[in-house]
Amino acid sequence: MNPLKPVAAERLPDLLRRMPKAELHIHIEGSLEPELIFALAQRNGVALPYASVEELRSAYAFTNLQSFLDIYYAGASVLLKEQDFYDMTRAYLLRAAQDKVLHAELFFDPQTHMARGVGMETVINGLHRACVDAKVELGISASLILCFLRHLSEEEAFETLEKALPFRDKLIGVGLDSGELGNPPEKFARVFARCRALGFHRVAHAGEEGPPAYVWTALDVLKVERVDHGVQASQDAALMQRLAADRIPLTVCPLSNLKLCVFPNLAHHNLRQLLDAGLVATINSDDPAYFGGYMNDNFTQTFAALTLNARHAYTLARNSFEASFIEASARQLYVDRLNEFFETFQ
Ligand code: ADE
Ligand code: ZN
Repeated sequence: MNPLKPVAAERLPDLLRRMPKAELHIHIEGSLEPELIFALAQRNGVALPYASVEELRSAYAFTNLQSFLDIYYAGASVLLKEQDFYDMTRAYLLRAAQDKVLHAELFFDPQTHMARGVGMETVINGLHRACVDAKVELGISASLILCFLRHLSEEEAFETLEKALPFRDKLIGVGLDSGELGNPPEKFARVFARCRALGFHRVAHAGEEGPPAYVWTALDVLKVERVDHGVQASQDAALMQRLAADRIPLTVCPLSNLKLCVFPNLAHHNLRQLLDAGLVATINSDDPAYFGGYMNDNFTQTFAALTLNARHAYTLARNSFEASFIEASARQLYVDRLNEFFETFQ
C-alpha cells in the first residue's frame, strides 16, 4: 500500500469522490431536503410557514448556530410516522452511498420529536429499519447515536434515556447537541456517567462555537471518546497536546463551520492545522441539506481551499474508520478496502 504515491492535482477531486470513507457526524434530521420536507408536510397535513421549496431554501442564510437550529427544528416538525423516519434515513443513506461512504454513524434528536407527541419506538424503529435495509440493498453499514438536547435539562435527558432503554440494542451510543453556548458539557455529568455504566459509546459537540474549556470538560467529565467539531481547540496548546496524545478523534464539518460563520471562509478553516498537529481529524457533513453539501462536497471544497493533497486524503479517510465505533474485524475490512483503493488508483 502506498498512500504516498503522488497524485496529480487535477486527479484529486476524482480520488476524493471515489475514496472509501466513513461519516461520523451527520444529524439525520439535518439531511431532510426541502423537497422531502414539503412532501412529508403534505402527507401528514402539517402546515409550514413557507409557501414553497424555494422560499424555504432561501431562508437558509445563517449567522450562527442558534439561527440555524430554529429552522432545523421547524423542518423536523413534519416527521410524525415511522415511515417518515424511514424515508428520511433511506434518502440520506442512498446519497451517502453515492459518495462512497461505506459506514455512517447517525445522530438523532428524539426529544424534538417526543415534544410533538411522537413515540420513541416510532423514531427508533423507522431509523433502524432503514439502516437494516440499506445494509442489504446498498452495502452501507449504519448505526444510531441518540443525542440529548443540551438546551434542555439533565432531568429531561434522563427521562429520554429511560424511554430509549427498551431499544438499546438498536443504539451504539449517546451524544450531546443543540445550542452550545451557556450549556457546558458538565451540565450532563450524571446522565453521561449512567450511559457509560450502561456500556454506551459517548460523544459530544464541544468547541464548535463554545470555548476550549467545553472540550476539556467533555473529555474529563463526560469521558467522551470523540469530540464533535472541536475546532476551537486550536486556541489552547495544552488541549491540542491532550487530543493528539490520547488520539481523541475530532469530527470536523467544514461546510457547516462556513455556513454558521465559525470561520469567515474555507481558506481560513483550521483543518490543516489540526492535521499538522497530529490530531485524528475527520471530515463530515453535519446537516448536509442545510449547509449545501454532502460528504464529497465537504472533501472537494475543503481540499481546494486549503490545497490539501492525496496524503491528507488517505489520512482523513483512514481516521474516519479508526475513529468509528465499528467492531474491530469489520473495521479492518474497511481499512483494507481503503488501502486497495489507494494502491490501484490512477
Ligand atoms: N444539531 C444539528 N446540527 C447541530 C450542530 N452543528 N451543532 C449543534 N447541534 C446541532
Ligand atoms: Zn453536529
